[in-house]
Amino acid sequence: MALDAERIVTNVLKVAALPAVAMKFSEAIKDPLTSNQDLENIVSEDSALAAKVLMIANSALFNFPSKIDTISKAITIIGHKQLSEIVLSCSIVAMFKDVPQDVINMELFWRHSIAVATTARILAASRREQNIEKYFTAGLLHDIGKLIIFIEAPKYAVEVINQCVEKKELMHKVEKEVLGFDHAKLGGLLLKKWKLPEGIVSSVYYHHMPSVSSGDIVGPSIIHIADIITHALQFGSSGENFVPIFNEKAWKSLDLDIEILGPVIEQLNVQYNEAVKYILG
Ligand SMILES: [Fe+2]
Ligand SMILES: [Fe+2]
Repeated sequence: MALDAERIVTNVLKVAALPAVAMKFSEAIKDPLTSNQDLENIVSEDSALAAKVLMIANSALFNFPSKIDTISKAITIIGHKQLSEIVLSCSIVAMFKDVPQDVINMELFWRHSIAVATTARILAASRREQNIEKYFTAGLLHDIGKLIIFIEAPKYAVEVINQCVEKKELMHKVEKEVLGFDHAKLGGLLLKKWKLPEGIVSSVYYHHMPSVSSGDIVGPSIIHIADIITHALQFGSSGENFVPIFNEKAWKSLDLDIEILGPVIEQLNVQYNEAVKYILG
Protein backbone atom coordinates (compact mmCIF):
# COMPACT_ATOMS: atom_id res chain seq x y z
CA MET A 1 0.00 0.00 0.00
CA ALA A 2 1.34 3.44 -0.90
CA LEU A 3 1.92 5.88 1.99
CA ASP A 4 0.80 9.49 2.17
CA ALA A 5 3.69 12.01 1.98
CA GLU A 6 1.73 14.86 3.65
CA ARG A 7 0.72 12.63 6.57
CA ILE A 8 4.31 11.46 7.11
CA VAL A 9 5.57 15.05 7.17
CA THR A 10 2.82 16.03 9.64
CA ASN A 11 3.90 13.13 11.91
CA VAL A 12 7.53 14.21 11.65
CA LEU A 13 6.64 17.77 12.61
CA LYS A 14 5.23 16.53 15.93
CA VAL A 15 8.69 15.35 16.96
CA ALA A 16 10.92 17.46 14.71
CA ALA A 17 9.92 21.11 14.85
CA LEU A 18 12.72 23.31 13.46
CA PRO A 19 14.73 24.19 16.60
CA ALA A 20 13.48 27.46 18.12
CA VAL A 21 16.98 28.94 18.20
CA ALA A 22 17.44 28.43 14.42
CA MET A 23 14.01 29.91 13.67
CA LYS A 24 14.55 32.93 15.93
CA PHE A 25 17.99 33.52 14.44
CA SER A 26 16.86 33.45 10.81
CA GLU A 27 13.93 35.76 11.64
CA ALA A 28 16.22 38.15 13.56
CA ILE A 29 18.76 38.61 10.76
CA LYS A 30 15.97 39.65 8.37
CA ASP A 31 15.36 42.69 10.59
CA PRO A 32 17.89 45.48 9.86
CA LEU A 33 17.43 46.80 13.42
CA THR A 34 18.74 43.56 14.97
CA SER A 35 21.96 44.19 16.91
CA ASN A 36 24.83 41.79 17.62
CA GLN A 37 23.65 41.79 21.24
CA ASP A 38 20.19 40.52 20.13
CA LEU A 39 21.89 37.72 18.16
CA GLU A 40 24.17 36.92 21.09
CA ASN A 41 21.09 36.54 23.32
CA ILE A 42 19.54 34.06 20.87
CA VAL A 43 22.70 31.96 20.41
CA SER A 44 23.32 31.92 24.18
CA GLU A 45 19.95 30.14 24.73
CA ASP A 46 21.68 26.97 23.53
CA SER A 47 24.96 26.48 25.40
CA ALA A 48 26.24 23.71 23.07
CA LEU A 49 25.59 25.96 20.09
CA ALA A 50 27.26 28.95 21.76
CA ALA A 51 30.37 26.83 22.42
CA LYS A 52 30.39 25.70 18.79
CA VAL A 53 30.12 29.29 17.51
CA LEU A 54 33.18 30.26 19.59
CA MET A 55 35.07 27.21 18.32
CA ILE A 56 34.29 28.11 14.70
CA ALA A 57 35.27 31.79 15.16
CA ASN A 58 38.63 30.58 16.54
CA SER A 59 39.13 27.99 13.77
CA ALA A 60 41.41 28.14 10.74
CA LEU A 61 38.31 29.06 8.73
CA PHE A 62 38.68 32.67 9.93
CA ASN A 63 42.35 32.68 10.90
CA PHE A 64 41.85 35.58 13.33
CA PRO A 65 45.14 36.59 15.05
CA SER A 66 43.82 36.81 18.64
CA LYS A 67 41.50 34.59 20.67
CA ILE A 68 37.76 35.23 20.26
CA ASP A 69 36.24 34.80 23.72
CA THR A 70 32.77 36.34 23.44
CA ILE A 71 29.80 35.45 21.25
CA SER A 72 29.37 39.06 20.11
CA LYS A 73 33.00 39.17 18.83
CA ALA A 74 32.39 35.80 17.13
CA ILE A 75 29.28 37.22 15.43
CA THR A 76 31.32 40.15 14.10
CA ILE A 77 34.03 37.82 12.75
CA ILE A 78 31.72 35.24 11.20
CA GLY A 79 29.05 37.60 9.82
CA HIS A 80 25.27 37.31 10.12
CA LYS A 81 24.54 35.26 6.99
CA GLN A 82 27.25 32.67 7.50
CA LEU A 83 26.35 32.41 11.18
CA SER A 84 22.72 31.81 10.25
CA GLU A 85 23.88 28.94 7.99
CA ILE A 86 25.99 27.53 10.87
CA VAL A 87 23.13 27.77 13.40
CA LEU A 88 20.69 26.06 11.04
CA SER A 89 23.15 23.33 9.99
CA CYS A 90 24.25 22.46 13.52
CA SER A 91 20.67 22.49 14.87
CA ILE A 92 19.37 20.16 12.15
CA VAL A 93 22.30 17.73 12.35
CA ALA A 94 21.79 17.54 16.16
CA MET A 95 18.07 16.98 15.64
CA PHE A 96 18.54 13.83 13.53
CA LYS A 97 21.27 12.27 15.67
CA ASP A 98 18.99 9.42 16.82
CA VAL A 99 18.20 7.92 13.40
CA PRO A 100 18.79 4.13 13.70
CA GLN A 101 22.40 3.42 12.69
CA ASP A 102 21.53 -0.09 11.45
CA VAL A 103 19.82 1.29 8.35
CA ILE A 104 22.11 4.22 7.58
CA ASN A 105 25.53 5.40 8.71
CA MET A 106 24.77 8.96 9.85
CA GLU A 107 28.40 10.10 9.80
CA LEU A 108 28.65 9.10 6.10
CA PHE A 109 25.19 10.56 5.38
CA TRP A 110 26.17 14.00 6.73
CA ARG A 111 29.56 13.83 5.01
CA HIS A 112 27.75 13.33 1.68
CA SER A 113 25.35 16.19 2.51
CA ILE A 114 28.19 18.52 3.58
CA ALA A 115 30.07 17.76 0.34
CA VAL A 116 26.96 18.56 -1.74
CA ALA A 117 26.43 21.74 0.31
CA THR A 118 30.03 22.86 -0.18
CA THR A 119 30.03 22.07 -3.92
CA ALA A 120 26.69 23.88 -4.34
CA ARG A 121 28.09 26.99 -2.64
CA ILE A 122 31.20 26.90 -4.88
CA LEU A 123 29.09 26.47 -8.06
CA ALA A 124 26.80 29.33 -6.96
CA ALA A 125 29.84 31.56 -6.29
CA SER A 126 31.21 30.67 -9.77
CA ARG A 127 27.93 31.93 -11.23
CA ARG A 128 28.20 35.05 -9.03
CA GLU A 129 24.84 34.25 -7.43
CA GLN A 130 23.61 36.45 -4.57
CA ASN A 131 23.34 34.90 -1.10
CA ILE A 132 25.42 31.79 -1.75
CA GLU A 133 24.71 30.50 1.80
CA LYS A 134 21.23 29.46 0.72
CA TYR A 135 22.76 26.98 -1.76
CA PHE A 136 24.85 25.55 1.09
CA THR A 137 21.69 25.07 3.17
CA ALA A 138 19.81 23.45 0.25
CA GLY A 139 22.76 21.10 -0.37
CA LEU A 140 23.00 20.15 3.29
CA LEU A 141 19.28 19.32 3.41
CA HIS A 142 18.77 17.87 -0.09
CA ASP A 143 18.46 14.23 1.08
CA ILE A 144 16.74 14.92 4.43
CA GLY A 145 13.66 13.12 3.05
CA LYS A 146 15.65 9.86 3.32
CA LEU A 147 16.01 10.42 7.09
CA ILE A 148 12.26 11.02 7.38
CA ILE A 149 11.62 7.67 5.67
CA PHE A 150 14.09 5.94 8.02
CA ILE A 151 12.34 7.46 11.05
CA GLU A 152 8.68 7.24 10.00
CA ALA A 153 8.64 4.17 7.77
CA PRO A 154 11.70 2.04 8.66
CA LYS A 155 10.28 -1.17 7.12
CA TYR A 156 9.70 0.62 3.81
CA ALA A 157 13.22 2.11 4.05
CA VAL A 158 14.74 -1.39 4.33
CA GLU A 159 12.55 -2.56 1.41
CA VAL A 160 13.81 0.38 -0.70
CA ILE A 161 17.46 -0.39 0.13
CA ASN A 162 17.01 -4.09 -0.70
CA GLN A 163 15.23 -3.40 -3.99
CA CYS A 164 17.92 -0.86 -5.00
CA VAL A 165 20.51 -3.64 -4.69
CA GLU A 166 18.35 -6.27 -6.47
CA LYS A 167 17.29 -4.00 -9.34
CA LYS A 168 20.58 -2.01 -9.52
CA GLU A 169 18.46 1.11 -9.38
CA LEU A 170 18.64 4.60 -7.81
CA MET A 171 16.82 5.24 -4.51
CA HIS A 172 14.44 7.95 -5.71
CA LYS A 173 13.11 5.66 -8.45
CA VAL A 174 12.57 2.69 -6.12
CA GLU A 175 11.02 4.96 -3.47
CA LYS A 176 8.37 6.03 -5.98
CA GLU A 177 7.50 2.37 -6.64
CA VAL A 178 7.52 1.31 -2.97
CA LEU A 179 6.15 4.46 -1.27
CA GLY A 180 4.37 6.33 -4.05
CA PHE A 181 6.71 9.37 -3.69
CA ASP A 182 10.44 9.97 -3.29
CA HIS A 183 12.74 11.50 -0.66
CA ALA A 184 13.09 14.72 -2.67
CA LYS A 185 9.34 15.42 -2.44
CA LEU A 186 9.25 14.46 1.25
CA GLY A 187 12.22 16.70 2.08
CA GLY A 188 10.74 19.60 0.10
CA LEU A 189 7.42 19.26 1.97
CA LEU A 190 9.17 19.27 5.36
CA LEU A 191 11.26 22.35 4.54
CA LYS A 192 8.11 24.12 3.31
CA LYS A 193 6.41 23.38 6.65
CA TRP A 194 9.54 24.71 8.39
CA LYS A 195 8.98 27.89 6.35
CA LEU A 196 12.46 27.88 4.80
CA PRO A 197 12.81 30.18 1.75
CA GLU A 198 11.05 29.02 -1.45
CA GLY A 199 14.39 28.77 -3.33
CA ILE A 200 15.69 26.22 -0.81
CA VAL A 201 12.41 24.25 -0.84
CA SER A 202 12.32 23.94 -4.65
CA SER A 203 16.06 23.12 -4.86
CA VAL A 204 15.45 20.13 -2.57
CA TYR A 205 12.09 19.13 -4.11
CA TYR A 206 13.47 19.00 -7.67
CA HIS A 207 17.10 17.92 -7.11
CA HIS A 208 16.54 14.64 -9.01
CA MET A 209 14.49 16.22 -11.81
CA PRO A 210 15.54 19.87 -12.12
CA SER A 211 14.13 20.25 -15.63
CA VAL A 212 10.54 19.82 -14.40
CA SER A 213 10.92 22.47 -11.68
CA SER A 214 7.84 24.70 -11.66
CA GLY A 215 9.95 27.74 -10.77
CA ASP A 216 13.59 28.73 -11.15
CA ILE A 217 15.70 25.89 -12.58
CA VAL A 218 19.07 27.23 -11.36
CA GLY A 219 18.71 26.24 -7.67
CA PRO A 220 17.63 22.62 -8.34
CA SER A 221 20.28 22.36 -11.10
CA ILE A 222 23.09 23.48 -8.78
CA ILE A 223 22.09 20.82 -6.21
CA HIS A 224 21.67 18.19 -8.96
CA ILE A 225 25.16 18.81 -10.39
CA ALA A 226 26.73 19.09 -6.91
CA ASP A 227 25.13 15.74 -5.99
CA ILE A 228 26.60 14.07 -9.10
CA ILE A 229 30.09 15.53 -8.52
CA THR A 230 30.21 14.41 -4.88
CA HIS A 231 28.83 10.94 -5.68
CA ALA A 232 31.43 10.52 -8.41
CA LEU A 233 34.20 11.58 -5.98
CA GLN A 234 32.73 9.38 -3.20
CA PHE A 235 32.48 11.96 -0.42
CA GLY A 236 30.49 10.15 2.32
CA SER A 237 27.38 8.15 1.38
CA SER A 238 23.65 8.75 1.38
CA GLY A 239 22.91 5.04 0.94
CA GLU A 240 22.99 5.32 -2.86
CA ASN A 241 24.84 2.62 -4.85
CA PHE A 242 25.16 4.56 -8.10
CA VAL A 243 25.94 8.07 -9.31
CA PRO A 244 22.61 9.83 -10.13
CA ILE A 245 21.79 10.23 -13.83
CA PHE A 246 23.24 13.44 -15.30
CA ASN A 247 20.60 15.88 -16.54
CA GLU A 248 22.06 17.81 -19.47
CA LYS A 249 19.42 20.55 -19.36
CA ALA A 250 20.38 21.22 -15.72
CA TRP A 251 24.08 21.62 -16.60
CA LYS A 252 23.26 23.90 -19.56
CA SER A 253 21.02 26.07 -17.39
CA LEU A 254 24.04 26.92 -15.20
CA ASP A 255 25.89 28.38 -18.17
CA LEU A 256 29.28 27.30 -16.78
CA ASP A 257 32.36 26.25 -18.73
CA ILE A 258 33.31 22.58 -18.23
CA GLU A 259 36.87 23.82 -17.48
CA ILE A 260 35.56 25.17 -14.20
CA LEU A 261 35.22 21.66 -12.72
CA GLY A 262 38.96 21.34 -11.91
CA PRO A 263 39.09 24.49 -9.74
CA VAL A 264 35.67 23.60 -8.21
CA ILE A 265 37.03 20.22 -7.03
CA GLU A 266 40.22 21.86 -5.69
CA GLN A 267 38.15 24.31 -3.61
CA LEU A 268 35.84 21.49 -2.51
CA ASN A 269 38.77 19.51 -1.08
CA VAL A 270 39.80 22.48 1.09
CA GLN A 271 36.37 23.78 2.16
CA TYR A 272 34.86 20.32 2.77
CA ASN A 273 37.24 19.51 5.64
CA GLU A 274 36.52 22.84 7.36
CA ALA A 275 32.75 22.37 6.99
CA VAL A 276 32.93 18.79 8.33
CA LYS A 277 34.86 20.12 11.37
CA TYR A 278 32.33 22.77 12.25
CA ILE A 279 29.17 20.80 11.53
CA LEU A 280 30.14 17.36 12.83
CA GLY A 281 32.58 18.66 15.48
FE1 LIG B 1 18.62 12.66 -3.44
FE1 LIG C 1 22.43 13.15 -2.47
